[in-house]
Amino acid sequence: MDRELEDSVGLAIELVREALAHDGGLVVLTGAGISAQSGVPTFRGPEGHWTIGSRNYQPQDLATAAAFKRLPREIWGWYLYRRSICRAAVPNPGHRALAELERALPDRLRLVTQNVDGLHLRAGNTLANTLQIHGNIDFARCTAGCSATPFLVPSEFDGFGRDDRLDDDAYARLACARCGAAARPHVLWFDEYYDEPLFRAESAIACARDAALLVVIGTAGATSLPMQLAGVVARSGRPILDINTDDNPFAEIAARSGGLALRGSAATVLPALYEALSGS
Ligand code: APR
Repeated sequence: MDRELEDSVGLAIELVREALAHDGGLVVLTGAGISAQSGVPTFRGPEGHWTIGSRNYQPQDLATAAAFKRLPREIWGWYLYRRSICRAAVPNPGHRALAELERALPDRLRLVTQNVDGLHLRAGNTLANTLQIHGNIDFARCTAGCSATPFLVPSEFDGFGRDDRLDDDAYARLACARCGAAARPHVLWFDEYYDEPLFRAESAIACARDAALLVVIGTAGATSLPMQLAGVVARSGRPILDINTDDNPFAEIAARSGGLALRGSAATVLPALYEALSGS
């Protein structure tokens, strides 16, 4: 860690300590950047999903309910391939530091994640305190809505490759076990809305209202609910700490809120923060 980063981490530690001295939650909002060092591609980076896309389609067009309606097998194949990458990945020191933080502060830490990779839960964060606002790629749900409860994608699809194809039998095995209708990946698509029953949107806003500090980690700020959460926290006069390797729209809100934009990798910064806090 260079001197400049060390100084920023020092300021961040003060910010967290100060917040912990007040009432309210320590709300952590994560994006793809925290999983980058686990080998899960981000969306908008040079190797990102939205940058590279699939063989035949514009990337962002694939992540829509409209595309799924037209091309269910192609879309399923793309999600099964991405799911394989997530399943092969392991939590990195950034994920592990957040899991330690929840163990240390179970009543105060609230994790809101846009990541569908499930790595926070595998690192040890609890489902009760983790709001997966864009879903979880390991799960599917019935398109006919026969059950609101998403179910696990069968393990036979572990290792599904970028060029693998879904034959009729395999596609049939992805159907809803309860009613036999087609199932779909349990993720939020671009032409869909956040909601509470599936994506815990209202709970996330309630966390932001109660936050003593919002820590934003590894997100480009291109989605609406995360920006809304930052707005809620800033308007209530509470600070924002933005941890990212690059500049992003949260930096300006962080500055206005009396917080801090810390430029460094989550996998380096979060363990250092946790170490310092747990020692005090
Ligand atoms: N540490 C911290 N930040 C990092 C790191 C790292 N090691 N590596 C990359 N980043 C930052 C990038 O600078 C960028 O700001 O992570 C961010 C990744 O941005 P995106 O690829 O846009 O991912 P994200 O913000 O999570 O996307 C949000 O968009 O399309 C949707 O549903 C998709 O959940 C996703 C959402």
